[in-house]
Amino acid sequence: MRIIRSPRLTLRPWESGDASFLLDLESRWETVRYLTPDPTTMATLDEAAASILRRRAIDHPVHGIWAITLTETGRLLGNLLLKPVSVSSGGSRPAPVEIGWHLHPDTYGHGYATEAADAVLSDAAARGLEFVIAVTDPRNLASQRVCLRLGFAENGATRDYYDTDYLLFEKSLV
Ligand SMILES: CC(C)(COP(=O)(O)OP(=O)(O)OC[C@H]1O[C@@H](n2cnc3c(N)ncnc32)[C@H](O)[C@@H]1OP(=O)(O)O)[C@@H](O)C(=O)NCCC(=O)NCCS
Repeated sequence: MRIIRSPRLTLRPWESGDASFLLDLESRWETVRYLTPDPTTMATLDEAAASILRRRAIDHPVHGIWAITLTETGRLLGNLLLKPVSVSSGGSRPAPVEIGWHLHPDTYGHGYATEAADAVLSDAAARGLEFVIAVTDPRNLASQRVCLRLGFAENGATRDYYDTDYLLFEKSLV
């Protein structure tokens, strides 16, 4: 998976040595609470290690799941993903590509999610991706603000993805 840079950030593949950070991030209710319909926290280092292996196995010219790091120090900040969305059961339409973000709570409030997502979207557009969506729980106001800052249009409620009621955000990259 390629490395993507922005003014402050380096997005790089997850590495096996990142397991304790990933566990710290994903074991927090604050991180997963809006990932409905069934939010579950990560519980063990083995789960984190297995998740990192799955992330590293993605071999695609555009999609990926990156570790967000601060370039100056190498500090891990969170996760940025770009992949086909999970379509609700019974859905027949092809899955659009979704973008998503998880930041460690210690790093909120610095605009890192917006900066990381903007860099990934620029990279994906240059590689031919034409359209991207994001879905958020209606209560997830911080994530909705990130979507709007990135220039996504809010297109109302949907149950087309993850078998749950989400707000749909859409953005054309052409
Ligand atoms: C979503 C997330 C990445 C945002 O992190 P962040 O960019 O550091 O958030 P910020 O603190 O900079 O806030 C972003 C915006 O939301 C606003 N905001 C933050 N918390 C808010 C709240 N509880 N209510 C209303 N607005 C809020 C901020 O004021 C800011 O608005 P602005 O763009 O007008 O300045 C972070 O909250 C997170 O990782 N959450 C857990 C995982 C998650 O829910 N991911 C999204 C799944 S859809």
